[in-house]
Amino acid sequence: MSIGLLLLLIIVGSPVNADGPVCPPTPSNKLSRAHFPEGFLFGTATAAYQVEGAVNETCRGPSVWDIYCKKYPEKCNGDNGTQAVEFFYRYKEDVQLMKNLNTDAFRLSISWTRIFPRIIPFVTVFHWDTPQSLENEYGGFLSANIVKDFREYAEYVFQEYGGKVKHWITFNEPWVFAHAGYDVGKKAPGRCSPYAKERTVKGECLGGRSGYEAYLVSHNLLNAHAEAVEAFRQCEKCKGGKIGIAHSPAWFEPHDFKDAQNGATVDHIVGHRLPKFTTEQKAKLRNSADFVGINYYTSTFSNHMEKPNHAELRFKQDSLVEWKDKNINEVSIGSKPATAELAVYSRGFRKVLKYVKDKYANPEIIIMENGYGEKLGDNDTVAVGTADYNRETYLKRHLLSMYEAICEDKVNVTGYFVWSLLDNFEWQEGFKTRFGLYYIDFKNNLTRHEKVSGKYYREFLSQGVRPSAIKKDEL
Ligand SMILES: *[C@@H]1O[C@H](CO)[C@@H](O)[C@H](O)[C@H]1NC(C)=O
Ligand SMILES: *[C@@H]1O[C@H](CO)[C@@H](O)[C@H](O)[C@H]1NC(C)=O
Ligand SMILES: *[C@@H]1O[C@H](CO)[C@@H](O)[C@H](O)[C@H]1NC(C)=O
Ligand SMILES: *[C@@H]1O[C@H](CO)[C@@H](O)[C@H](O)[C@H]1NC(C)=O
Ligand SMILES: *[C@@H]1O[C@H](CO)[C@@H](O)[C@H](O)[C@H]1NC(C)=O
Repeated sequence: MSIGLLLLLIIVGSPVNADGPVCPPTPSNKLSRAHFPEGFLFGTATAAYQVEGAVNETCRGPSVWDIYCKKYPEKCNGDNGTQAVEFFYRYKEDVQLMKNLNTDAFRLSISWTRIFPRIIPFVTVFHWDTPQSLENEYGGFLSANIVKDFREYAEYVFQEYGGKVKHWITFNEPWVFAHAGYDVGKKAPGRCSPYAKERTVKGECLGGRSGYEAYLVSHNLLNAHAEAVEAFRQCEKCKGGKIGIAHSPAWFEPHDFKDAQNGATVDHIVGHRLPKFTTEQKAKLRNSADFVGINYYTSTFSNHMEKPNHAELRFKQDSLVEWKDKNINEVSIGSKPATAELAVYSRGFRKVLKYVKDKYANPEIIIMENGYGEKLGDNDTVAVGTADYNRETYLKRHLLSMYEAICEDKVNVTGYFVWSLLDNFEWQEGFKTRFGLYYIDFKNNLTRHEKVSGKYYREFLSQGVRPSAIKKDEL
């Protein structure tokens, strides 16, 4: 069970086809697009702050991330984000990269929106870059004021782009946003109680109260989501579009297979720290997603927490699930190459998908992110960075697991995005952790180089029929 999924309590309505997805008869050759149901979309993903730079262009105001990285560069691994400034000007070059990859779709967040020819845009309304002005004025997502302002912003972008952009995501990874920003302080705005500071956090917590603020933020965020969805459904030119939210569940395997039950009700444990939704808010949240976005990267072992520390409250602790790197036999989950960010466990991907299908009444699911991060350290050169055989293996395994989830477990997954098109600014990791299918040479005018993984994805997508050949009206 996954605590990331707690936020999935939003009820999703979906028409259910009893027979499940229709998979083509399995060809005997190696896995490719041709194995997936007709119309399945494949793409790559990015987010504005991570690729755009351009901090000083036109009327863009600073976001919490600009100020955070500028004021505390050590919290962003020494990088202040502005190096990426030129990415912004290269959209033509990058559209060409997407075409070269044979992808159908591209996920971006709003300030990078362009209507790309023959590439279907999936737009995230909010991918963590809270305006610093709202942070200063009332504490950003800590305040219920954000709900009205978020709705106004969302209304504006729907009016502006809703005629052409038909796929929307309100929020990216609400659980990570609340946990990393307000429980352990490793992402902007870097708030936490000193006792809850995570090992990866450089410097002090910038104010905050772990075990409280993350709930407030999640509460306001869900209300903001519901308001944005209502605005979307009232927007005339948005008709025919779909809107959802992107969650980031890890899969949890039991630490001790003899004692596999976890869980307790959060309501009981958190009590008065859990803000209450009004009847009206609940009504707006009901059916407030047309599909469920899933970002999947890794899995972990988990144990029932016997002795939660009540003196040191933490959002992450309240689920009474202890995250463990190793199981009771001291075995690590999956595999982890030396330079990998996270353990590789593709079976967890299939299990998460099956779990969401069974637990949440078989919703439509779109994989909004899946990818492999690596830190190359002193070996970070174009030659080493492009020879990313580990990332190629990661993609192969995860595409296979997703295929099994769809064609064997009959999970209704309709699209898949690799994170990421390009190496980018990886939040607190700065530019030192790479996720791209294209290598960015930061020392040489941000030149793009296709990696082995990019070539693999391109070839995988060159087989079978592209949706663009079927659904002309979507383009
Ligand atoms: C998957 O979801 C889509 C969108 O809700 C729906 O049209 C389709 O019938 C579903 N497919 C199955 C097999 O349930
Ligand atoms: C942004 O522009 C202002 C005014 O032109 C300038 O003073 C400032 O240094 C610029 N900041 C950055 C980060 O380039
Ligand atoms: C960001 O870092 C670059 C060098 O890496 C520097 O030239 C630039 O002035 C910095 N920008 C800010 C806003 O501190
Ligand atoms: C660089 O690569 C060599 C050879 O694979 C390896 O022994 C070394 O640990 C690597 N250095 C870093 C910093 O990853
Ligand atoms: C850097 O790359 C951009 C975009 O490809 C190009 O327009 C520019 O001329 C390059 N600059 C240098 C110094 O090579």
